[in-house]
Formats: sequence, C-alpha cells, structure tokens
Amino acid sequence: MTNRVTVLGSINVDRILHIEKLPRPGETIKMSQLDLAAGGKGANQAVAAARSGAATTFIGAIGADAEGEMMLAKLAAEKIDVTQVAQDADAVTGQAYILLQAGGQNSIVINAGANAQVSAALVEKSSAALSQADFVITQFETPVTAAVAAFTQARAQGVVTILNPAPASEHSEDDLLRLTDVIAPNETESERLTGIKITDDTTLAASAAYFHQRGVKAVIITLGEQGAFFSYAGQQQHLPAFKVAAVDTTAAGDTFIGAMAARLKPDLSNLPAAMTYASQAAALTVQKLGAFPSIPATAAVNAFAARQGDC
Ligand code: RIB
Repeated sequence: MTNRVTVLGSINVDRILHIEKLPRPGETIKMSQLDLAAGGKGANQAVAAARSGAATTFIGAIGADAEGEMMLAKLAAEKIDVTQVAQDADAVTGQAYILLQAGGQNSIVINAGANAQVSAALVEKSSAALSQADFVITQFETPVTAAVAAFTQARAQGVVTILNPAPASEHSEDDLLRLTDVIAPNETESERLTGIKITDDTTLAASAAYFHQRGVKAVIITLGEQGAFFSYAGQQQHLPAFKVAAVDTTAAGDTFIGAMAARLKPDLSNLPAAMTYASQAAALTVQKLGAFPSIPATAAVNAFAARQGDC
C-alpha cells in the first residue's frame, strides 16, 4: 500500500561552507569550498518520503525570487504535489548557511524568509491535503501556530500526526504535544522540551514518560551513532545504528522522518521495522554532501540493507 504523506514545513536553499573547524569569537577563517544544495527540514522530509515511495504533498512558502522557483521545480521533479506552496511577494526564499566541519559535523544559521510567513490561514486553505493523508508531518522551522492548525485538522479526520521538534524549541509546546501521535526528537531537542538530559536507559525512559503524559502515543528519540530508541504501547527498545563513515550529517534526521513515514503502517504496528528502514536511509544520507542530493531512494536503501545482511 502506498502511504499518503503531507509535510508542512520549511524550504531553504543551503549554502555549504566547508571549514576545518568553527571560528572562535573574533576569529576570521577561510573556507576551502562553497557548495549550494536544495534543503530545508520540511522539504528534505518530503523528498525522503517521496523517494521511499510515498504519495507526498508539501505545504509551505517560497519568496518571489529565482531561488523559490528553483526549489519549487526541484520538489515537483520528485512528483511532490506543490499546489499548496504559497509564494510570498514580500519575502525571500529561506536560506541556510551550513558550516560543515571536517568529519561531517555541521552548525547551521538560518534566514527564515518566507518560511516565517507560513500561517494558520495557509493551512486552512490546504485542508484537503491534510484530511486525505495517512500521515501529517511538521517541524519547528515554520511557525508553531501553523503546526497547531495542521495537527488540529489532521486529528479531526483521524490522520496520524508526526512531530519532528527540530530545530530545538525554547518553549514547552504542550498545545502541540496534545495533538501529536508520534514525536521524533534527537537527544538535544528532547532535552529542550522535557528538561531531562539523556545519559542512559533510565533518562530515555523518563523522557518518553514526559511525552506520553502529554498524550503522545509513540516516542522515538534518535541518538546519532548510538542508534534510536522507541517507546510505544508499553514496549521500549533501543535499535542500533548502522556504522558508516560520515561526510556530511545534514538532512540525516530529515531522511529518517520522511523515510519512516513512507514505510509506517497508520496503526503503527510495524514501528520497529519502519525505524530500521529509516536508519538505513539515514546511514546513506550521511555518506554524501548536501541535503536533497544525499537523500536515497528505496532501491538504494534496499541494496544497503542487503549489504548489511551479507556482513
Ligand atoms: O535538517 C537539515 C536542514 O536544516 C538543512 O537542509 C537546512 O536547510 C536546515 O534547515
């Protein structure tokens, strides 16, 4: 069965600055290379879902500029329905400046541009895309008011809501958590929401309990090289990561979310299997530069899984 996935979120043009290490305060450093790639957490998640076979719709905004047109064309080329992407005449298309250090770790500075204009009103206009989906996904690179509006509509129609609370929020976001079926933060994002620093299985369980107490059914906490943890229907498990050499970790988390949504059954009964597929997809993403260029399609993920089986 083909999952129908609607993503509400950000669109960015990523400028990747290759540096040896982050500058100290007052220091000036040289980059060794500059690259441009399509990205944005929302757009990356939509591309990951589409490349893993989901019928995908995107809700978001671009500026009235050439970069916005380019991003729209790239999303449409993935067969993503972009009819719910608004064009804001007064804003630039979102931009991300990615400081990529040797070893693949990144630090990101965002110019939100049109992403900041994504509103509850835009979401209201996209009601068919929300009510006809199996899953609605959102993140924190577009306003929380729009996320609440989208999840309210989705919930009213029995559509499963997935929140990737990234980048880390300064607020507790309880209104949104009450509307969330599946939450998937990394350790930092989880700590920012719960106040619990994750150090071991006990703190993972306490973090999951925090989210469950606020109404979230399934809690997934991604742990980078340590794999991913889930807590669902009384079951808790820590799934290991696939060991690969990272070139650029950008969009690994986004790939995990989008690929998982393409594979997950709406009753969540195959959660561990969908997470394993998502981890395999993310392991491929970190081995290539850039966001869109690094997100794998199903065939590549299956080939990677087969190679792991050979080991
Ligand atoms: O999650 C990765 C994304 O974060 C990048 O593509 C960049 O656009 C930032 O939004």
